[in-house]
Amino acid sequence: MNIHTYEKLWLIAAMVLIVGFIATITYGSVALGITMVGDQEDTIEPRELSEDDRFGEPRVEQVGENEYEAYVVARTFMFQPDPIEIPENSEVTFYVTARDVIHSFSVAGTNINTMAIPGEIATMTAEFDEPGEYGIVCNEYCGSGHHNMEGELHVLP
Ligand code: CUA
Repeated sequence: MNIHTYEKLWLIAAMVLIVGFIATITYGSVALGITMVGDQEDTIEPRELSEDDRFGEPRVEQVGENEYEAYVVARTFMFQPDPIEIPENSEVTFYVTARDVIHSFSVAGTNINTMAIPGEIATMTAEFDEPGEYGIVCNEYCGSGHHNMEGELHVLP
């Protein structure tokens, strides 16, 4: 019958919520058949993107038998490269950054969804088992062309 008891209860409730969120996200990834591994951020100088080994020429690069790396640049109002083309049964690590303002890199129908922030590199890995075509959209308002900022991801047979 004191404040400490209530504080403890709220703390426990908050912990339960956090664990619940993590469980939901983990379950969502597995259920879709698109496996997300990790999500860490690195930094880069936006003004030097053009000279950067990875982002100077946005592309998909094969780095192993079934492993690929995609260097993606979001800018007003497009994604580069477009389309992003990868073969089926591949594991792709995306490195995403923005050239000018904050965008997002959101692959419709998958769990691939990250903010694209100038100066930061978002990293995520996904597996693509089946051929298919996905739309890529920008979910962060970025200016007059925001609603037309689209790209495509093709998983080729
Ligand atoms: Cu880019 Cu909205």
